[in-house]
Amino acid sequence: MQPDDKKRNAAKAALNYIGDNTVLGVGTGSTVNHLIDLLPGVKDRIRSVVSSSTATTTRLEELGFEVSLLNEVGDLDLYIDGADEANKHLQLIKGGGGALTREKVLAGAARKFVCIIDDSKLVGMLGKFPLPIEVIPMAQSFVARKLAKMRGQPVWREKFVTDNGNHILDVHNLVISNPMEMETRINQLPGVLTVGIFAHRPADVLIIGDDSGIRVIGK
Ligand code: A5P
Repeated sequence: MQPDDKKRNAAKAALNYIGDNTVLGVGTGSTVNHLIDLLPGVKDRIRSVVSSSTATTTRLEELGFEVSLLNEVGDLDLYIDGADEANKHLQLIKGGGGALTREKVLAGAARKFVCIIDDSKLVGMLGKFPLPIEVIPMAQSFVARKLAKMRGQPVWREKFVTDNGNHILDVHNLVISNPMEMETRINQLPGVLTVGIFAHRPADVLIIGDDSGIRVIGK
């Protein structure tokens, strides 16, 4: 099965978590784009929808959804998003698309976080995928030097500006044997807005599209 079919199957399975009157948060990326394409079919179950990026907002609006602000709706019943890597503890690396800050806010505001991936993203240890970190521009070099001291190789994502007007450092070869500790440590560097490790707030459910269809971890 092609990766795109696996992503679509995982997205389709996530529709089952959308109950009546749901306040729904929608993530960003190619996997979530499959979900967005399917949302018109369950529109009657969605009370409001909140978006994690301008790209997702545009797609939702093109399909006729009115996108609410998180400040208007309070907490989310459900947040559905993809990931760049996931482990069996449902801890994630996110931010390949650069939307990690708003994604982390929505995950934090959600009573349930359902993550949808294809099986290539399930790993034993997080960190093969370069870890995205959103930094305020004036702190970019300072943060990069600190990350180098932590034995990572930070690479500036050139010509990329986040929805919040910031920069992204993609950190290669970091050993993330303890994701919670690494998330805390990087969060504490001045100038870091968000680190793409989602360990303190992992997913509650991981839906993995694979050759046999889907596999679900969590509940
Ligand atoms: C966006 O910033 C990311 O966190 C995405 O959720 C992640 O990169 C997954 O994207 P794909 O579904 O396109 O692989």
